[in-house]
Amino acid sequence: MNGKIIKFWTDVVEVEFISNLPKINTILTLHDGKTFLLVKRLVNDKIIRATVIYAYKEIKINELVFNTNKSFMVPVGVTSHNNIYSFEGKPLLENRNPSLKYVEMNSTINNERVLDSKIEIIETGIKAIDFFMPIIKGYKLGIFGGAGVGKTVLMKEMIFNINKNNEKTSNIFIGSGERSREGIELFNELENSNLMKKSSMYISKMNESPGARMSIVPIGITAAEYLRDIEKRDVLLFIDNIYRFVQAENEVSASLGKKPSVGGYQSTLESDVANVEERLFKNNNAGITSFQTVFLPMDDISDPSAVAVFNHLDGNLVLSRSQAAKNIFPAFDPLISSSNSVNEKIIGKKHFDAIIEVKRILKTYKDLEDVILILGFDELDEENKKIVKKALQLENFFSQNFFMTEHFTKEKGVFVSLQDTVESVIRIINGEYINQSPEIFSYVGSNLNIPTDKELGIK
Ligand SMILES: Nc1ncnc2c1ncn2[C@@H]1O[C@H](COP(=O)(O)OP(=O)(O)OP(=O)(O)O)[C@@H](O)[C@H]1O
Ligand SMILES: [Mg+2]
Repeated sequence: MNGKIIKFWTDVVEVEFISNLPKINTILTLHDGKTFLLVKRLVNDKIIRATVIYAYKEIKINELVFNTNKSFMVPVGVTSHNNIYSFEGKPLLENRNPSLKYVEMNSTINNERVLDSKIEIIETGIKAIDFFMPIIKGYKLGIFGGAGVGKTVLMKEMIFNINKNNEKTSNIFIGSGERSREGIELFNELENSNLMKKSSMYISKMNESPGARMSIVPIGITAAEYLRDIEKRDVLLFIDNIYRFVQAENEVSASLGKKPSVGGYQSTLESDVANVEERLFKNNNAGITSFQTVFLPMDDISDPSAVAVFNHLDGNLVLSRSQAAKNIFPAFDPLISSSNSVNEKIIGKKHFDAIIEVKRILKTYKDLEDVILILGFDELDEENKKIVKKALQLENFFSQNFFMTEHFTKEKGVFVSLQDTVESVIRIINGEYINQSPEIFSYVGSNLNIPTDKELGIK
């Protein structure tokens, strides 16, 4: 049944229906199906409020609105690979998919979580990640950081590196409210590396309406669930940036006239985030392993949006401005980052003990930094001098050249195996290089080829 526009604000309209009131999250169209509205609130048994997803032309009072009786239709499955989709499910590139299969957004939600104890580590070849936050199939990794500290670059490096060893997985990329240039760049890079044929991208750019930016995340997750539960394929899901999703939900909530809560965020912040995060897991069919960038307003890790996401993740990887300022990329901060995969039973005693020791060294160095600043390094006792030296060596060791940055750093990217990373770190913490300069570890890759003090005969 059709309805009629009775009121409108900038991006919200009120529609009156004589009968058959549409449900929440139904799509309404007008202007020959070219303008899209999303039902967000039932005002009474005749009137609904909808947010404007896309307006083909100006919306006027009394215009007729068509109830599609459906939510967004999402192109799914392996037949959808090899293309980029908008919120409408329209492929951006023509003639690449002979047959597209569509399902309704959120029709794939599966609450049957079966815990399986089989643990598979997914190597990224990125030393800092494999060492401090080993990624396990079904894991959820958050990459937190303020503006321009390297979240997108790090996520892209992970996409390419993980795909090197995981031929059978599908990739889903959700571009939520970021720059359109970045989406195109990623597409070109995936295409050139022959990875687009196993990837689908769902993108809503920063200049689109909040309704579109907010919906693209559940749209992409629907595609991931379909692959996992219907086609039984393992999925690597990448979301850049989940903060933009929270922000878009907030904008829609504000325009619907709902009162804000803590820090100006919507009162439904927690449930908005939970509704998407709780759909990402591994079950007996296959697993969704996800990687999500989280923008930190004002570099503040305690921002309510970051905290809401934090609580759902298995790993919280924090990029810090102070590391980036020292030209250490990835600008990973091991003392703030945390991961629940750091467990002796999962990673083994050798790796586990190495992490504990590295963290102890870095923490001690951090505590000594003030003393060094005031009194100077020479005033430290021998034991602390060694710790500081090891800390500087470790800090440099975890810097790494990326394949993704070759075009502007002019340095070749390196992939370091987990085993080589652990062995390399153990050599440093054992003090095998204690008489050499920390600089030798800057952007090294593995250090297994660097001669130790003993081999060089330095005392
Ligand atoms: N691994 C790296 N090696 C060298 N430079 C890097 C690296 N990562 C990031 N940079 C530098 O930092 C810039 C910003 O990186 P990036 O776009 O990934 O940041 P971001 O955190 O995603 O930013 P935003 O919050 O704006 O999305 C890059 O253009 C590059 O100059
Ligand atoms: Mg970015």
